[in-house]
Amino acid sequence: TSPDPVPGYTHDDPGLAPSPVTAADLDLLKASVLFGPADEQALRLAGEVLSGQIDQVLDVWYGFVGSHPHLVAYFSTPDGTPIDDYLARVRARFARWIIDTCTRPYDERWLAYQQEIALRHTEPKKNQTDHADSVSHIPLRHIIAFIYPITATIKPFLAAGGHDDEQVDAMFQAWFKAVTLQVALWSQPYAGRGW
Ligand code: HEM
Repeated sequence: TSPDPVPGYTHDDPGLAPSPVTAADLDLLKASVLFGPADEQALRLAGEVLSGQIDQVLDVWYGFVGSHPHLVAYFSTPDGTPIDDYLARVRARFARWIIDTCTRPYDERWLAYQQEIALRHTEPKKNQTDHADSVSHIPLRHIIAFIYPITATIKPFLAAGGHDDEQVDAMFQAWFKAVTLQVALWSQPYAGRGW
């Protein structure tokens, strides 16, 4: 059975534009972050462990964003009022993204959705999905810096499934690689020809 649709989560939309990033580029980036079949396996396990804890993970991440005015600004109107509906709709897509990061094959369709996510952080597509009256662009430096909290905060959730230390570490390393890999892909529209 396929999971419930999430508004605006267009991963399987037939109209999704192909990524300018090729499968060969992806293979080289995977090699750069040392991502291999063992990581895929560890992510599948992470998906099982995290599936019952998604709301708690998102509470931590949203708490982090919410407690930093310079971050919540990107979910706010230009004059600084947080937009609850925007926060909530993105949260639902974020939830699906956690599971997809753990369970989807990293194929051409996945690559295409990575490009879509990248564009949604930038001028061409930010705010469109939710018709949000928010600021139009998230600076790349914040996306890169966010790798750390998104990674560090996942560890206790990975450990909560009762697996041994070695398995928890394998899941943690795989998650770190997967997030780094995605942020490398998301830098494409920011960097343009410099990518
Ligand atoms: C959207 C992940 C960094 C603000 C999203 C989505 C995901 C995501 C999965 C939903 C994509 C979709 O529409 O399906 C991440 C990850 C990051 C990161 C993994 C870094 C490792 C940031 C930072 C900010 C931010 C630093 C700034 C506060 C937003 C906003 C949206 C969004 C405002 C909604 C964009 C829209 O209008 O569609 N992010 N994000 N993200 N993220 Fe990020």
